[in-house]
Amino acid sequence: MFETVPCIITVQDKNYKLVGYNREFSDRFDPQPDDYCFYAYKGRSTKCPNCPVEKTFRDGKSHHSEEVGISKDGTPTSWIVRTSPIKNEKGEIIAAMEMNLDVTYHKELEEELERSEKKYRGIFNNIRNPIFVLDADTLEIIDCNNSVQSVYGYARDEIAGKSFLTLLPENEKSRYAAELKSASVINQVKQIRKDKEIIFVDLWVSPSGYPGKDVLLVTTSDITQRLETEQQLIQASKMATLGEMATGVAHELNQPLAVIKTASSFFMKKVNKREKIDSEILFTLSEEIDSHVDRASRIINHMREFGRKSDPKLDEIQINDVLEKSFEIFCQQLVVRGIEVDWEIEESLPLILADAGRLEQVFINLLINARDAIEETWELKSPQKGDKKITLKSRSEGKRVFVEVQDTGGGVAGSIIDKVFEPFFTTKDAGRGTGLGLSISYRIVHDLGGSIKVVSREGEGARFIVTFPSVPE
Ligand SMILES: Nc1ncnc2c1ncn2[C@@H]1O[C@H](COP(=O)(O)OP(=O)(O)OP(=O)(O)O)[C@@H](O)[C@H]1O
Ligand SMILES: [Mg+2]
Repeated sequence: MFETVPCIITVQDKNYKLVGYNREFSDRFDPQPDDYCFYAYKGRSTKCPNCPVEKTFRDGKSHHSEEVGISKDGTPTSWIVRTSPIKNEKGEIIAAMEMNLDVTYHKELEEELERSEKKYRGIFNNIRNPIFVLDADTLEIIDCNNSVQSVYGYARDEIAGKSFLTLLPENEKSRYAAELKSASVINQVKQIRKDKEIIFVDLWVSPSGYPGKDVLLVTTSDITQRLETEQQLIQASKMATLGEMATGVAHELNQPLAVIKTASSFFMKKVNKREKIDSEILFTLSEEIDSHVDRASRIINHMREFGRKSDPKLDEIQINDVLEKSFEIFCQQLVVRGIEVDWEIEESLPLILADAGRLEQVFINLLINARDAIEETWELKSPQKGDKKITLKSRSEGKRVFVEVQDTGGGVAGSIIDKVFEPFFTTKDAGRGTGLGLSISYRIVHDLGGSIKVVSREGEGARFIVTFPSVPE
């Protein structure tokens, strides 16, 4: 048995000289008579540090260790050592038996694994975007890469073990907790850095497996700066729109002013002639003045509101209301130009989640474009009634709400239809168009999870179709 067991066995005396060994040992290490174990195993000239044989001679117990040596053919070999004492009849320890199990292959695998682990950790850490590994149930941060520190200010040790929700504002935690478990992309998430500064990120979630655990890999991309630039651009375009509408609004304000003027002239005339004003007439005219002042201040407030710089905020809104409001600020312009407007509105549409001010900007952009297209097309022709017309539609279908703005202008030529949403693409003369209207509208709509497209055949007018996801009941 001693000779043929599939492991190495050697017996050493107190001086570490080999007094016996089996075939497995002589095959692997080629020992010479009177060799010391340290020489035969490892080619050493002195006892190994931490020698388990020495410990066994000292306390009579079994010991173990892990060793590395060189086998007969010169290859490094690893093995696990277990020792046990051999005693004579008097119970004295006269030798120690050493049993070794070759673990070279496992060692190599282990090292390979370590190398590979190092390699992938290196890649993981050096990816520019922050990556979090979350427990899929509790959303606890199990691991994260180095980029987390530069974006969020937290070192890995500080944030590991905490909930991912720590990085979110208090009032949005529960919403995102649910969304993280179901969505794959979440845009424009507000997050809080260690220094309490607010940043905005786009966030990708992919479920993945960890040994014995379901995890979520969350990658984020800091879009704070992009949003700031966009905000400025949106504001600039708003101001341009306001300028554009100034003439229309002047018209709009003239009407209530005229009514007030008429009434006040009438009063003055009566007073000058020392005539009594009939109380019923007095009341009717005062009522007129009152309602027209209200109308004028509504227009002014609306302009002011529209021009105000504000952070986007999402509310549940009725898109028909926004459409009407956009039209209100704009209708005078159309009347002056003899452009009719047809409404095909579906009442009680489902609500959508959006920023009303921004949406208004989208619709006004579309209305201005429709107006310009109609103007350009009919400028030199003699239009009949109904030739210059904008149709505004709203409807719902499944979980989406649709708004359409259709005009009877010249349409968008096939050769440029792919370009109209690009920033700075314009076919209008310098000073008339900057080419930002549609690209900004595109951004605003997409940020709300919606889409915008144009359908047009040349010569038939353009139809812009905007869709939004409706708020679930
Ligand atoms: N209703 C439409 N009919 C025909 N062409 C259109 C229509 N709307 C947009 N376009 C085309 O798309 C281009 C880009 O529109 P966009 O609103 O982005 O810029 P713009 O109107 O030229 O300038 P800005 O809106 O910045 O004043 C327009 O120049 C025009 O060629
Ligand atoms: Mg435009």
